[in-house]
Amino acid sequence: MIENIINLNNISYTYPNGDTAINGINLEIPIGKKIALLGGNGAGKSTLMLLLNGILKPTKGDLLYKNVAYNYNKKGLRELRSKIGLLFPEPDYQLIAPTVYEEISFGLLNKFKDDEVVRQKVENILKDFSLQDIVNKPPHQLSTGQKKRVCLASVLAMEPELIVCDEPTSNLDPMYSKLIFNYLNELHNKGKTILISTHDVNKAYSWADYVIIMNNGKILEKGLPDIVFENKELLKSANLNQPFIFGFLNELGDGFKDASKIIDEWKKYYKKR
Ligand SMILES: Nc1ncnc2c1ncn2[C@@H]1O[C@H](COP(=O)(O)OP(=O)(O)OP(=O)(O)O)[C@@H](O)[C@H]1O
Ligand SMILES: [Mg+2]
Repeated sequence: MIENIINLNNISYTYPNGDTAINGINLEIPIGKKIALLGGNGAGKSTLMLLLNGILKPTKGDLLYKNVAYNYNKKGLRELRSKIGLLFPEPDYQLIAPTVYEEISFGLLNKFKDDEVVRQKVENILKDFSLQDIVNKPPHQLSTGQKKRVCLASVLAMEPELIVCDEPTSNLDPMYSKLIFNYLNELHNKGKTILISTHDVNKAYSWADYVIIMNNGKILEKGLPDIVFENKELLKSANLNQPFIFGFLNELGDGFKDASKIIDEWKKYYKKR
């Protein structure tokens, strides 16, 4: 039984201009979990995600997908990307097709070949992401939030085994943020592994069942949210705050005994947002 969908063994990555964005990382991405990757600006989150999807090749170290080393030839990368879907933080990097419909159907046609199967899948995802009204529009004529939804729809429609989303809800209004998380949760319930990057510690604490904290191209901490988010100093050194609830409980003081119950209620409340 495989425990980790990806293993990173001593990975470093230096950009062509000489900036080292990832510096000797050892990390496992546990299979079937909802994972939040957190860190301040420039910590290396986006670079790490590009390495996971094979868009960047490490300068040093090995990546393994289900215990098999990444193969960076054309066929290897095609296979890898059918298993690992990546949502870019900036929609403009992702959108290439002349219409929303073609943007979403492009990957599906390669995967399923059958026009009718693809048409049905596109119809479903258009409905799920409320994109029916803009289906024939060129993506570059959409609002930033609409572009983001089109990108998410095209990645998630493929139902990859590992879904990597770099800041999935940036530029989305609260209603669509909720919709996206509901959708990610559904995919998780179907057995997919979900990895998102975010600066939102509250969302990460209530949503994730595993968290990874990055700083300066390194992994500062990883593990269960209840344990990792307890360490205020560590979070501070990664330019992150503690989730609100920790400050609230501190205000209540030592006399308060049933903190875990409040935390559970708070998580439930926050999850619905
Ligand atoms: N294309 C690039 N060329 C050179 N250096 C880069 C490039 N992209 C990122 N970097 C550098 O790599 C480091 C990590 O950047 P990265 O974008 O991975 O951080 P991040 O954690 O995603 O930050 P943010 O929260 O701002 O999105 C930074 O020092 C950044 O300046
Ligand atoms: Mg980033």
